Amino acid sequence: MPAKTEYVTLKTDVLIIGAGGAGLRAAIAATEAGSSVIIASKSLLGKAHTVMAEGGIAAALGNVDPQDNWKVHFTDTYVEGVYLSNWRMVELLAKEAPDRVYELERFGALFDRTPDGKIMQRPFGAHTYRRLCYTGDKTGLELIRTLQDKVAHSPARILDEFVVTKIISVNGKVAGAFGISMRDGTFKLIECKSLIIATGGLGRLFKVTSNSWEGTGDGLALAYRAGAVLNDMEMIQFHPTGMIWPPAVRGLLVTEGVRGEGGLLYNKDNERFMLRYSPKKKELDARDVVARAIYQEIIEGRGSEHGGVYLDITHRGAKYIKEKLPSMYMQYKEFSDIDITKERMEVAPTVHYHMGGIRVEPDTGSTNIIGLYAAGEASSGLHGANRLGGNSLTDLLVFGKIVGASAASFAKNSNQIKFDESAVREEIDRILSFTDNSGTNPYQLIDTLRESMSKNVGILRNEKDLTKALDTIKSLIPKIKGIGVKGGLRFNPGLLACLELNNLILSAELVVRGALERKESRGAHARTDFPMRKDDVWRKNIIFTYNDGKNDMSFVEVPELPDHLKELGKEV
Ligand code: FUM
Repeated sequence: MPAKTEYVTLKTDVLIIGAGGAGLRAAIAATEAGSSVIIASKSLLGKAHTVMAEGGIAAALGNVDPQDNWKVHFTDTYVEGVYLSNWRMVELLAKEAPDRVYELERFGALFDRTPDGKIMQRPFGAHTYRRLCYTGDKTGLELIRTLQDKVAHSPARILDEFVVTKIISVNGKVAGAFGISMRDGTFKLIECKSLIIATGGLGRLFKVTSNSWEGTGDGLALAYRAGAVLNDMEMIQFHPTGMIWPPAVRGLLVTEGVRGEGGLLYNKDNERFMLRYSPKKKELDARDVVARAIYQEIIEGRGSEHGGVYLDITHRGAKYIKEKLPSMYMQYKEFSDIDITKERMEVAPTVHYHMGGIRVEPDTGSTNIIGLYAAGEASSGLHGANRLGGNSLTDLLVFGKIVGASAASFAKNSNQIKFDESAVREEIDRILSFTDNSGTNPYQLIDTLRESMSKNVGILRNEKDLTKALDTIKSLIPKIKGIGVKGGLRFNPGLLACLELNNLILSAELVVRGALERKESRGAHARTDFPMRKDDVWRKNIIFTYNDGKNDMSFVEVPELPDHLKELGKEV
């Protein structure tokens, strides 16, 4: 057998793809349940979009506002998801959040404190009370640091810089996954009894995004090709405030914590325009509202010098700003030579989060494929049409734990599914085909795709632009069959681009088809040609399934709230 087609076989009970907050929390739960665990991570451990949830983790501890409780957290999340969420997921999130935060603290996380020593909580957009537990403006980083430390002391095995390229399933049951180590160019087959997808989102479909390079929709494409159902793909969140200048840092997150700590938004005429768009909640309205307001100011010619708006926190004073927002202070100083204690920041919306993803069963995180689970941003159903800031870190902890425990319990009661080696051989051939250097350059196609998605699938959408995006995608599909790069299998970024491009195109197609289909405006999905919300027709999830090489679209009614939660809405 020629050396290039050899592969190593590993065996585990539970395989976790992705080492962000959800993957790590799942690994802790699965190892605690006695399962053997392998974590496959595309990047080095510790590099995850989780760190971009800077401003805090939402949990109704009531430390600062004693009136807060899980019922208010439930109602805020459900209402701001614009009635598209799965109520049971929201209920689990709101009820379990406090326990998960205190548990994280026991694992070693350090939070900012109130004067009497409790975990401090700050306000965030559309949360009724001060609910975000935080570590300055580095909360996601603190969460990852803590979970990583815990996993490092667990028996879980970590394969970092490892790209999973295929999930192997037989008759709707998971059998394992195949992939390549970028570090040494070796192929690996990982046989497993259950598999958790925790790969995050697809922000890299767009030119301007807070997502780092890993966010290319890999987990969605892997699951979908294995037969899993995808949900709410059209729901993309624009975070209202990303950096805008200089161009090299465009899209980098400016935490909502700045507004939480009192930051105010101004247009070029020095008008505090949020008073006009949202007189009650102002800068702390939900992300979809604030992002649209900023965008409107920009397109109507009231934008800042570099095409954003101004965010001002100077009135809080240098000591307070450096204590509460140290990363923001450094970020603007280093990248823009701006001292945010004395000068205003320039900001504009940036693609931040995908509410859509793999459809899961709320209490277990299981999918329609037996043995396949999903958690975190790769899953869907919790955030509906619009995620509240701070709820993503809560999601990772609550559902990471649930999914890790369920996947371990499933593995304990299952046998390894047998499969034909041809599945592996075909995948090796597919990967090797990209190293034929006579192929089309994948980077050009990725640029074309991103350009079109950013132009046509933005904050305000309409049929004409969405159709243009779909036409671009259709024109790219035949071209990706012939992509190829120079170089071998080891540390070859071009090869990675070929693998990612296939995932990006698939994700893009489903995002755009969903957006075209949803002929209404709801949460983050705003259509200028259908500006109203239509609950009678569209309280539905748009779902996609892969059948015989075809993408089938269908619709599922959002389940009605059960009585105990209806009552709760009235109470709150
Ligand atoms: O603005 C932020 O700090 C982001 C938080 C989040 O996405 O949850």
